[in-house]
Amino acid sequence: MTPPPTPPLPPAPPTDAAGVLARCAELDHLSATPDHLERLYLTEEHAAANRLTAGWMQAAGLTTWQDAAGNQWGRREGRSPGLPALVLGSHLDTVPDAGSYDGMLGVVLAISVAQRLRDADLPFALEVVGFSDEEGARFGKALLGSSAAAGTWDPAWADLPDAAGDTLARAFTDFGLDVARVTDAARRPEDLVGYLEAHIEQGPRLEAADRSLGFVTTIAGARRFALTVHGEARHAGGTPYPRRRDALAGASEVVLAVERLARAGGCLATVGRIEVHPGAVNVIPGRADLTLDLRAETDADRDAMWDTVHAELAAICDRRGLGLEVVETHRAAAAHCAPWLQQAVIAGIGATDDRGAEEPMGLWSPAGHDAMAVAAVTDVGMLFIRCADGISHSPEEDVREVDVARALDAFESAVRHVAAVQA
Ligand code: HGY
Ligand code: MN
Ligand code: MN
Repeated sequence: MTPPPTPPLPPAPPTDAAGVLARCAELDHLSATPDHLERLYLTEEHAAANRLTAGWMQAAGLTTWQDAAGNQWGRREGRSPGLPALVLGSHLDTVPDAGSYDGMLGVVLAISVAQRLRDADLPFALEVVGFSDEEGARFGKALLGSSAAAGTWDPAWADLPDAAGDTLARAFTDFGLDVARVTDAARRPEDLVGYLEAHIEQGPRLEAADRSLGFVTTIAGARRFALTVHGEARHAGGTPYPRRRDALAGASEVVLAVERLARAGGCLATVGRIEVHPGAVNVIPGRADLTLDLRAETDADRDAMWDTVHAELAAICDRRGLGLEVVETHRAAAAHCAPWLQQAVIAGIGATDDRGAEEPMGLWSPAGHDAMAVAAVTDVGMLFIRCADGISHSPEEDVREVDVARALDAFESAVRHVAAVQA
């Protein structure tokens, strides 16, 4: 009998910048809607992105698996089987109406670096991960995938609802996973050497310095709050000013105070959403719901800013006869990149022809990253890549091919640097 024909091998993965960019463009098609990019946790698009990246990982010589939290992994052994792993990765989920590079560029770039190092003799296993949820765009809680991998999953998250009212537990089941088994995704510190993540800067500092690349020193912690300003809904014509308790007028003062205080204090604070109730043209607003996102270089600066902001918001509401209700919805501590992995990234950048590569620029990251969750289980380091006009969380996100080429070289050299210090 003639043996069945061997299936054709998938095409060898691209190890150049053009190939990396083409793959990011391919991932753009895996979206909830055809006219803009939205890929949320535990959706069909999530499953499709895992399948696509798993195929790329296999073509790069990695053995693949999806873990109990829906993260997509690939691994090649080092010098001998079973060694602890150096993990390279980022996330595959997006915000609504996203750009093509936030997260995805780091995953695709990591796969290409693994392909470049396919035959390298390494004193550790090399793994690549595409985390399933960093943005928190579906269940409101960020870093779900990387927290599961870091072993810091909180069982209470199973009850978080999405916008349609489905719980996270239900979404796990629909995806073919079991939330009761999510702890199986947790990695053990002794199985890891460290974690390196490449990511677009999402800000304008590299561009202003005319550099392609930078290394990250610290990832800012964030605190998020749901604020409710309570007033009184009354007739817009019949209520004289001294009798009004206008929740939206008070909320407007709150928004401006948040901006003024954060600017003066060197922090970043954003009111990203306001909902007004009852929301009619001829009714004085009786209630306004706001979100507040607060970030600073250190947790101490961030917490001091919150104390100042909170006191001012309470004073504004007091003056206007309004009530203020505050619920903290998210708190993540700042994460420090390990000095030895900062050195690896610095050495990696030093091996490129980037402007000023002999003395790379160190940046703190006001944006959150999977590395902050992973830092709970192993040392982390990050490489930042310039993005056009510092724009991110927008379809306008863009990167230059030359910067991606330098990032590939830097990331490969950083892994070789880790190999040299581990040998
Ligand atoms: O919001 C953030 O910092 C991130 O992009 N998830
Ligand atoms: Mn993002
Ligand atoms: Mn990101």
